[in-house]
Amino acid sequence: MSIFDFSDDEALGSVRAVDTATVVVGVDNLELLRKMQVNRLVVLQSSRAGQYLVGIVQKITRDPAKAKELAASIDSEDQEPEEKNTVRISLIGTFLEKIGTRQNVFRRTLETVPEIDAYCFPIEGEHLTNFMKVVSHHDDTKTPRLSLGTYTLDQNANAYLNANKFFQRHAVIVGSTGSGKSWTTARLLEQISALPNGNAILFDIHGEYHTLKGDGIRHFRIAGPGDLEGLQTLDHGILHLPYWLLAYEDMVAMLVDRDDRNAPNQSMLISREVTESKRRYLEAGKHDDILANFTVDSPVPYSLAEVQAELVRLNTEMVDGSRGQKQGDFHGQLSRLIARLENKMHDRRLGFMFQAPHESMEFSWLERFAKSLMVGTRDQVDGRGGVKVIDFSEVPSDVLPLVVSRIASMVFAIAQWTARAYRHPIAILCDEAHLYIPERLQGGGILASALSYFERIAKEGRKYGVGLVVISQRPSEVNRTVLSQCSNFVALRLTNAEDQSVVQRLLPDSLGGMVGILPVLDTGEALVVGDASLLPSRIQIAEPANKPDSGTVEFWDCWATDEPAEHVAAAVMAWRRQSALAEKADKKQAKPKPAASKRRGNAKE
Ligand SMILES: Nc1ncnc2c1ncn2[C@@H]1O[C@H](COP(=O)(O)OP(=O)(O)O)[C@@H](O)[C@H]1O
Ligand SMILES: [Mg+2]
Repeated sequence: MSIFDFSDDEALGSVRAVDTATVVVGVDNLELLRKMQVNRLVVLQSSRAGQYLVGIVQKITRDPAKAKELAASIDSEDQEPEEKNTVRISLIGTFLEKIGTRQNVFRRTLETVPEIDAYCFPIEGEHLTNFMKVVSHHDDTKTPRLSLGTYTLDQNANAYLNANKFFQRHAVIVGSTGSGKSWTTARLLEQISALPNGNAILFDIHGEYHTLKGDGIRHFRIAGPGDLEGLQTLDHGILHLPYWLLAYEDMVAMLVDRDDRNAPNQSMLISREVTESKRRYLEAGKHDDILANFTVDSPVPYSLAEVQAELVRLNTEMVDGSRGQKQGDFHGQLSRLIARLENKMHDRRLGFMFQAPHESMEFSWLERFAKSLMVGTRDQVDGRGGVKVIDFSEVPSDVLPLVVSRIASMVFAIAQWTARAYRHPIAILCDEAHLYIPERLQGGGILASALSYFERIAKEGRKYGVGLVVISQRPSEVNRTVLSQCSNFVALRLTNAEDQSVVQRLLPDSLGGMVGILPVLDTGEALVVGDASLLPSRIQIAEPANKPDSGTVEFWDCWATDEPAEHVAAAVMAWRRQSALAEKADKKQAKPKPAASKRRGNAKE
């Protein structure tokens, strides 16, 4: 039985004009017009039997002059039905009662257009419920489906997404602060982690997601200054990113001041000396197969102390000349480079790179590191935790882009080097993406190289089974090239006009009008559009079982308590030691804010 069994007197009106995917309906039924709203769904008779065209209401026009006229002549019997009341509709798909052996199928294609005078019916009540069921059961495979929540239009219908397309074609989650991005992310991760072999990485910039629990979830934290002395290592969920994993570009961005007139020589020497040191390492370990093809960027350990010593030697070198001793080629040119390098090597905040524990300097360590980040639940050593949450809250903001992008690019590189048959797809979820996938480049080379890694993943990730989920409260500050590669949008409430227009530009033309609802969405309510969703839909995101810890401070409530707070001394201590650990251990604290995120000048939340 068809779900669209309308009788002609239920019609809103009939088609007056048709464009490629837009239809203007002249309204006959004023009662129905009054109930009509923008973004509601309607169905039109198609020229083919058993097929219907489904559309979204874009614009409702009621001719005011005519309306007045009508009111004035309300008694005159011979008043013709209103012609100037129109509804403009964007066609979005076709409903087929039967295709092959399947019944009731919805497709995002338009194989026919409606004919002039075809009837148009609003989809409401039971029709809506039934239609939503058809839409959300589009994917009749046996695997558990991805559902973010229920449709606002019909709270009884689960809004299922095509999860394959969601991750294959990359996704964006945007919304103003407090609109529900983190909860949506948690909801997404929860469902990935429930699968037997889920595989994802979340870049948790503020340490909000430590509350996520379950067998499928594993937590890592980039080592902070407080982790350097302990034996806290990979097995304890503490991540170090030893300097030997940095690419040449990253080293130059971090160590060389491009305005220095010696910059070219400094860069050249970094390359030369790092390559040489790597060569010595490989020779000592008899890795002949690697020696043949390695470059400065090869992930091979080396000794930075050795490089530093060589730079110092070159900087002070005297050589024999025709008239006795003279200064060497690089004499005095490397002083600033050496100073910068030594600074970094001793900066405790960068200890996770430059003072990484001994184990991370071993050749075999990279394998373990990559394995813990790259493989799904089944393939983890303990058979758990395919969803990896990495807490970056102790990473200083100036190197944040470098660290995040380095990890992302390693994941991508390993996916690329994995034989096709063995690739296990992985999703990379980037919270606060505007901080490291920026639209405007400022602050030098670090951001530029971070961006280049993410652009690469956005463009080529699909081929290698690496999916991106870009999450941000400022879509207008996230790189356009990366955004334009994303085919799925979860847009929560968005109040800033600039941000709205970015979303508008990314939507197909026929749906551009939907941007109008962005500022009025409720908390946790989203407009979901894209490959993964057959219908652009307004979805109420369901609450995740474990809520992220947004660390929102309840100003008024805190001010209203009379409990004394004894934490300033501890905060001063933590600041001096550059470690928030002591503070974290202090359970009496109502809302400890890690010192690390206070240091971060450009953090928005
Ligand atoms: N799906 C939802 N349902 C109900 N309340 C929600 C939902 N999502 C978010 N909220 C509320 O909004 C607050 C902010 O959500 P959050 O995800 O931290 O926002 P954002 O990450 O966008 O800043 C939450 O603490 C919660 O109270
Ligand atoms: Mg958030």
